[in-house]
Amino acid sequence: MTRLNQTIEAIKSEALAALDQAGDPEAVKALSVKYLGRKGLVTLFLRNITALPPEERPAAGKAANIIKQELEASFQAAEKRLSTPGDQQESGIDVTLPGRPAPVGTLHPLTRINRRICDIFNRMGFNIAEGPEVENDYHNFEALNIPKNHPARDMQDTFYVSDNIVLRTHTSPIQVRIMEKHAPPIRVVAPGKVYRCDSDLTHTPMFHQVEGLLVDTNVSFGDLKGILTAFVQEVFDVKTSLRFRPSFFPFTEPSAEVDILCVMCRGKGCKVCSHTGWLEVMGCGMVHPAVFENVGYDTSKYNGFAFGMGVERIAMLHYGINDIRLFFEGDVRFLGQF
Ligand code: DAH
Repeated sequence: MTRLNQTIEAIKSEALAALDQAGDPEAVKALSVKYLGRKGLVTLFLRNITALPPEERPAAGKAANIIKQELEASFQAAEKRLSTPGDQQESGIDVTLPGRPAPVGTLHPLTRINRRICDIFNRMGFNIAEGPEVENDYHNFEALNIPKNHPARDMQDTFYVSDNIVLRTHTSPIQVRIMEKHAPPIRVVAPGKVYRCDSDLTHTPMFHQVEGLLVDTNVSFGDLKGILTAFVQEVFDVKTSLRFRPSFFPFTEPSAEVDILCVMCRGKGCKVCSHTGWLEVMGCGMVHPAVFENVGYDTSKYNGFAFGMGVERIAMLHYGINDIRLFFEGDVRFLGQF
């Protein structure tokens, strides 16, 4: 190859390298002028061929014309490619577009609170237990000391599947199922869905409860108070005052309801606490001996306590939500806030 041929090859590589860097049609046009325009490098090269010895002219001219055509084709293709929007390009993939981030979901506020509740009890030595949502009359009522026609059944507007089968109205039957299978000592919390014929601003036909059960020797009401006080302080993040108010449940004796100082008005009295200054957060008590007898535990040796709370209620108080239905409407604008 002659020296001049080498020069036209160098011009070609330089032009193609520059074309590689061109990011838009204007840049390609500028390169086209620089190399192929009237005063372009390739044009000048062709014009200078006359300065070569006659025997070298044909080969040099031929080489230069081939390169000129190649460059013209490359410039044209690049210009076309760069003026076509990415998504219409032949391959359908424009690798220069920024990636589309995959949307990241969030945990449902009830899942968060449920995990929070279980986690607090886990750290106090409670295991997690589960039970069936479709339950028989015996476990949902009888074994819990709620016999047929007992007025306490009215407290729970029951969905009947058949005469003997119900959608569980509370998580308390899990207590019975655990005690049927295991001997004391027992320390469990049992989260789950429960069902009642009820629907308004603060009630939905399906909601969530967490049940707790501790059975051992020498368990006192003081132990129950200690555990639940520690729990309430932690679940609401703040030092909350609480009180135990005497109450009635057929499966506990004595029974109590736990109230916390209203998180909205701090005890002054407002709409949320019906101007009492207090909010009820759960039921609890010492397990009734009749329940122990139903599962064959020796009541002279063992005693224990149980408690049950509504997860929606805790979540509403924790996050300041005033309509329970928001949890179940599936609106991502609501759900994404937690
Ligand atoms: N099962 C009761 C309800 O659904 C809540 C409850 C109260 C559970 C007292 C308990 C308890 O374990 O000891 O209203």
